[in-house]
Amino acid sequence: MALQFLVDGLAMLAIMSSVSGVAAACTREGLFAASQSYILAQASGSISALNLSTSFSYQENNKPIDIKRGMLLQPLKIDLNRSTADTAACASYTLLISSSGPKPYILSPPQPAPSSLTPKKTLGYLQKENWWPLNTTQQAGVTRELLKKYGDAYLDMWTDPKAADSISWGKECERVEGSQYTNPCGKSLPRGGSKTNNGNRRYVIDETLGSVDVLCSFDSLGSLPDSHEIRVEGGTVRYVHTVTV
Ligand SMILES: *[C@@H]1O[C@H](CO)[C@@H](O)[C@H](O)[C@H]1NC(C)=O
Ligand SMILES: *[C@@H]1O[C@H](CO)[C@@H](O)[C@H](O)[C@H]1NC(C)=O
Ligand SMILES: *[C@@H]1O[C@H](CO)[C@@H](O)[C@H](O)[C@H]1NC(C)=O
Repeated sequence: MALQFLVDGLAMLAIMSSVSGVAAACTREGLFAASQSYILAQASGSISALNLSTSFSYQENNKPIDIKRGMLLQPLKIDLNRSTADTAACASYTLLISSSGPKPYILSPPQPAPSSLTPKKTLGYLQKENWWPLNTTQQAGVTRELLKKYGDAYLDMWTDPKAADSISWGKECERVEGSQYTNPCGKSLPRGGSKTNNGNRRYVIDETLGSVDVLCSFDSLGSLPDSHEIRVEGGTVRYVHTVTV
């Protein structure tokens, strides 16, 4: 089992968990139950309730560290949590937002909050979103392959000038990066420019929710630990979220 945390230094945390070799846990219920245990651990700052296997590994911002020195030991008031489940890969993804609390992020090294980012704004945007399972109309065209393709094409936009046009952007597409909000998403997109591909991609694909999350190293702009999450409705992109360290 592997737990991977991304902490953007201000408002958002992205958590990816992969469980391997435990078929029984690879149901939506099992994966969501595991996600709940990470959320509760983070809220309480205690890992004692986590069911960690002997092969457990932990990463924070793409670096292996001792879980006992990590983010989970800092209790956080959690204002929003949302999880997705990938039963084929036996993995889950959780997005957490904490916009309050005395010292929400104690990272090593400590990161000052950029004044242009306001967690309350981010929280406001994400709270308005609809993340119900796709209904039958919205499911049209949404396959595992399409979700993977969009996740990859999104990350390829910085290196491949054609990638942006290989994605079908919804008219109502909304993008939240930090507390920056863009609507429609397709309005301003990167079209190549960098020679370095965004690498180390790890995926959580949830066809029920129409979502793909890719944890990666954002190498096109300089090895930044990064998470991009996309929701697709009826084959077109509806939401994009970015957590970049
Ligand atoms: C902990 O994980 C093991 C192996 O996946 C599973 O059999 C057991 O039921 C889990 N225990 C709890 C309390 O979730
Ligand atoms: C996570 O979100 C759900 C609603 O989506 C809420 O019921 C639950 O209390 C939240 N958990 C925490 C620890 O904030
Ligand atoms: C699915 O949801 C969309 C958006 O809310 C709605 O326009 C559509 O009518 C719904 N379709 C079904 C079959 O419920």
